[in-house]
Amino acid sequence: MKARNSAFPVILFVVGSAAAAPPPPASAPPPPAAAPAPPDPSMAEGRFKNIQALKGYPADDVVPAMQFISNALGVDCDFCHVERAPEKDDKKEKQTARKMITMTLAINHDHFDGHREVTCVSCHRGAPRPIAISVIALGEPAPSAAPQLPKSADLPAASAVLDKYVQAVGGADAIAKIGSRVQKGKLSGFGPDPVPVDVSAKGPDRRITTVHGQRGDNTTAVNGRTGWLGNTGRPPRDMSVAESDAARLDAALLYPSDLKRLFREFEAAPSEKIEGKDTVRLIAKTEGKPDTEIWFDAESGLVVRLKRYAETPLGRNPTQIDFADYRDADGVKIPFRWTVARPSGHFTIQIDESQQNVRVDDKTFEKAPQGPPS
Ligand code: HEC
Ligand code: HEC
Repeated sequence: MKARNSAFPVILFVVGSAAAAPPPPASAPPPPAAAPAPPDPSMAEGRFKNIQALKGYPADDVVPAMQFISNALGVDCDFCHVERAPEKDDKKEKQTARKMITMTLAINHDHFDGHREVTCVSCHRGAPRPIAISVIALGEPAPSAAPQLPKSADLPAASAVLDKYVQAVGGADAIAKIGSRVQKGKLSGFGPDPVPVDVSAKGPDRRITTVHGQRGDNTTAVNGRTGWLGNTGRPPRDMSVAESDAARLDAALLYPSDLKRLFREFEAAPSEKIEGKDTVRLIAKTEGKPDTEIWFDAESGLVVRLKRYAETPLGRNPTQIDFADYRDADGVKIPFRWTVARPSGHFTIQIDESQQNVRVDDKTFEKAPQGPPS
């Protein structure tokens, strides 16, 4: 997989641009009746300075939509933006992209009954310039459409797959006995050398991961309610609702916990082999959110892969997590290795040391006002 941009520069850019947004008018006096409404910081045009094509969308959708665009074209943010001033229209590429957003929204509105069938990916497929002429067939044929899955005549009942999973990880009683967990390991994928990582968890909904990178610490945390992100030298920022949902799901799966409590409904679907092994795939549904796909090892019943999608106004951003190296820890089976992959790149965490039921203060998971220490 191409390592176009490690997650670090993207995160730094995002934090920087968010900091440049105007602060919400906290204590402004109420406007006179005739004055125009004050900017609404929850809307794209209210929080950012120069929104034209994405007017009317929530402000939290803007940066995820930008990640979608970058992935679709296979470029970094600076392909369109001058550094630290994303509102500027200096680059021709940004001006073209704005017309393309309007065009794509219009294609779906006018030709697909408003359903988002066409996205930037339909034409661009990872390149700034789409091709218009078929590639001549020599050697491997290029993948042209979503892969066809083998049809499976008799799919298992989703509830049986979920029950088998709970048994495979040790059973509900063993899970309930785990009060906390502290782990040390290494993260590879950011830069040339692996870097140390610390993970603490308390129950399935509190988790903090700190990566000690060459240029400082990088924290991802959920405190039982919401998530936040921290970088050395910058104020921490709250996750959006979609980011918090994703972080909570990751925390619950790694703990592990009863998947039935996390989703409204499950549906079994045809599946493919992963690492040469037969799998069972469930599609997990929650009201008003994109589906999540979960692959279970057909034999062991353990979760081997998760694929979740974050909705943006222009298309969905996919994240895939592969779980491996399951080991026994006080009666529960937990993965000691997981790989998080996105269109922009991937990283792997390998746990070396894991301890359970040690004291972990509730404060550990709360957002520190100063961010992690340098
Ligand atoms: C292919 C071009 C392109 C790429 C790549 C791109 N953007 Fe944008 N960006 C745009 C366009 C076009 C707009 C204006 C959208 C509108 O008019 O509603 C925009 C607007 C923004 C804004 C709002 C700025 C303001 O105050 O008005 C931010 C923030 C932003 N982009 C961040 C990013 C980040 C972060 C990345 C990388 C992950 C990125 N962009 C990648 C084209 C791009
Ligand atoms: C219907 C097909 C189609 C869709 C959908 C589409 N594009 Fe394009 N785009 C093109 C074509 C074709 C070109 C090249 C035009 C040329 O070569 O002058 C292009 C060019 C561009 C360029 C200029 C690249 C360069 O190297 O200067 C940008 C930026 C761009 N598109 C962004 C987007 C974004 C962002 C989206 C999604 C919101 C999008 N496009 C959706 C067909 C499409």
